[in-house]
Amino acid sequence: MSAPKIKAPRGTFDVLGEQAEARALLETRARSILEGAGYERIETPVFEATELFARGVGESTDIVRKEMFTLEDGAGRSLTLRPEGTAPVCRAYVEHGMHKRRQPVKLWYLSSFFRHERAQAGRYREFWQVGAEALGSEDPVVDAESILLLATLLSEMGVKGVRLRLSSLGGADSRAAYRERLQAYLHEHEESLSEDVRSRIDLNPLRAFDSEHAGTRRVMESAPRLLDHIGSEDAEHFAHVQELLSVANVAYEIDSTLVRGLDYYTRTVFEFTSDALGAQSGVGGGGRYDGLVQKLGGPPTPGMGWAAGVERILLAGDRQPAAVRAPELFVALADGARGQRRLAAFALLGAARSAGLRAQMELSGRSLKGQLGHAGALGARYAAIVENGETVLRDMQTGGQERIATDTVVHAVLRGLRDL
Ligand code: HAM
Repeated sequence: MSAPKIKAPRGTFDVLGEQAEARALLETRARSILEGAGYERIETPVFEATELFARGVGESTDIVRKEMFTLEDGAGRSLTLRPEGTAPVCRAYVEHGMHKRRQPVKLWYLSSFFRHERAQAGRYREFWQVGAEALGSEDPVVDAESILLLATLLSEMGVKGVRLRLSSLGGADSRAAYRERLQAYLHEHEESLSEDVRSRIDLNPLRAFDSEHAGTRRVMESAPRLLDHIGSEDAEHFAHVQELLSVANVAYEIDSTLVRGLDYYTRTVFEFTSDALGAQSGVGGGGRYDGLVQKLGGPPTPGMGWAAGVERILLAGDRQPAAVRAPELFVALADGARGQRRLAAFALLGAARSAGLRAQMELSGRSLKGQLGHAGALGARYAAIVENGETVLRDMQTGGQERIATDTVVHAVLRGLRDL
């Protein structure tokens, strides 16, 4: 009787073959764009103290209220698998005294994140984000450059049907005043709102803009908009960001209903969507979070950044990954070869790799005919059939072959490749 099969948990996936190639391509592009702009790579731990997200992302958000994978360590400390990367990056900024470096400190990451969401196409419980954070400057150029970098990445990955929605949430003061105004408006129209929105009027009234409920949507059409109530310095900052984006030819739409699912945002917020994605149309988003570092125990430090879903970029993109690269040399064994010849073949494999060749060797005990068929299927350029002290080197493209000393094979292959 065979043992029962075990499947990967719901909302998770394996990365196989071509998918791995596609992700590698995305990483290469992201690295080149972001490091070209002076961003340094950072990786933070997969789990953090739960407190980091409760305080950083916000107690009233869906993420903290119901989507975190939280566990206890042996000593009773509460740990959480990271649901996002901004709070961890800010924690690391404080922990490593990065405010003493030249500002802004610019960091990028490509990591896995965990949210207990309803799994569907484009929405997973373990997913990957590429993200960029710039800490220590409130200059609107930081906002515009950050948005431009994501626009460039999406364009280089061939993401189709991209739209950029942009808004400003203003500063803490105007937000607090607006919150009260919105709460009063929602209470006035309570009977038309969904159960869920009604229950959150006091906790998180802004989320009402995100509701799919028909009655709520009608009420929200005439709701007061935060963008109309932000302070004059914030409005000026926002106007600068828009000017800079226009100069850089980044098309955007102002959307005063844009609310993000995290509480740390101030001033600029934005989201890129792709119409190639269906229901989960958000491909990447972010904004400014000028109070977050201080909230996490650091000095007052402005911040701006974004994260984009790796799976969503690949779903909406049209870049075909390069095929897995074919070997330049396949080392085969004559039928029945054992002992010295196997050792000589293995040594040849090592010498070929040391010389920089992509080389593979027979690993499954195939017959010589089977090995040459396999080498052909892999697309190998040359096959070396190792015999006693000598090797038959076969050009897999022309079918021509020559018998040469085994220790000259690598040289012959290199010469052959050079003469192509
Ligand atoms: P977020 O909007 O929650 O922002 O996530 C950013 C992107 O991650 C989304 O646009 C989406 O592409 C992807 N994503 C989110 N949840 C899932 C999921 N369950 N499955 C697949 N993809 C998903 C943040 O996380 C902020 N930390 C962004 C930021 C950085 N803001 C400032 N700096």
